[in-house]
Amino acid sequence: MTAITRRHLLTAISGAAVARTMEASAQTTTVEKTLIAAARSKNLTYGAAMATWQTDRDVVLRRTFDRQCGTIVPEWEMKWGAIEGTRGTRNYTGADRVVSFAASHGLTCRGHAAIWYRNLPKWVEPALKAEGVEVMAAHIQDLMAHYKGKIKSWDIVNEAIEPKDGLADSLRNTPFLRQLGSDYIGRAFTIAAEADPNIQGFYNEYGLYHNDSKDHDRRTAVLALLQKLKQQGVPIYGLGIQGHHDLARPFDPSVFAAFLRDVAGLGLKILITELDIDDRSLSQTVSERDRLVAERATAFLTTALSERAVEGVLTWGLSDKYSWLNTSTYQKRSDGTMNRCLPYDENFQTKPFWYSLYYALRNAPSR
Ligand code: GLA
Repeated sequence: MTAITRRHLLTAISGAAVARTMEASAQTTTVEKTLIAAARSKNLTYGAAMATWQTDRDVVLRRTFDRQCGTIVPEWEMKWGAIEGTRGTRNYTGADRVVSFAASHGLTCRGHAAIWYRNLPKWVEPALKAEGVEVMAAHIQDLMAHYKGKIKSWDIVNEAIEPKDGLADSLRNTPFLRQLGSDYIGRAFTIAAEADPNIQGFYNEYGLYHNDSKDHDRRTAVLALLQKLKQQGVPIYGLGIQGHHDLARPFDPSVFAAFLRDVAGLGLKILITELDIDDRSLSQTVSERDRLVAERATAFLTTALSERAVEGVLTWGLSDKYSWLNTSTYQKRSDGTMNRCLPYDENFQTKPFWYSLYYALRNAPSR
């Protein structure tokens, strides 16, 4: 090799090395600024709900899940109504696509939700009445068997409390309660754990964070339920706190922190499972709304993450574009503008909410 050629070669090599270093440092910077990197730095997780109708058509959404999340949860595909609308024809196509999306992007998939009074096929209540607990058991057992080794973290029972219904222990008046009695909740957890002893079973609930009498009653009832389940030795791993905030309703960090402490005191873990912040009550400019959403996010998340039993945060979607608050007609803002409820706007630009989330995760006490 001549000197000139060698010099050219060396220049080319060092050029390539510099380019590689620059690329690597750019990558490092990008990685450091993701929500999942911020979460992992504190041994937490961050994730979001997804639906295949959204990811199928939106490459930017897919990329955002890929870069920002460590966990996903199906918004709809794993609910009973999605799997077995007609009795005996269990169809896992949609749910399996969410699970394989997770696997191919290196994400963990949560299960949501085994037992819920909504999205429930019409045939279920008469079947429960005629055949009893076996109907619920068959559904849970099949779900657990289908996803054994693939899904660990499961919302086993969703939204079983409703003080307004005026029933004993503030239990919600659901087909399960009506047909199986109040211990259907504990039984659901036991059936799930027997089917797959490795799962982490969560009781998932909304309305536990606003500082008003409605949520005060809901906190009291949920805590009593959790206490009872623990006393009975029910295999429950944690409480999923949905986190659907309404900015018309107040938040008090000290009240919420006390609730988290009580839950953690029962030996339960906690996950924020469905965070979004509804700005329907605000008539201000978009930037003022964004500021108020971010302010609530910071107050809520810094309080939540200060409790060491909290293992992570999932938002109910990533972008305003696909939020249930913007896509279901009955939820929309009356002025026709987008609800600014999630960390990304409809063009996948980060909003102040994103920074609230990022800094709350990054500054959380280590686990
Ligand atoms: C509840 C359920 C979710 C979802 C939202 C609305 O929070 O747990 O699965 O249906 O309502 O989208």
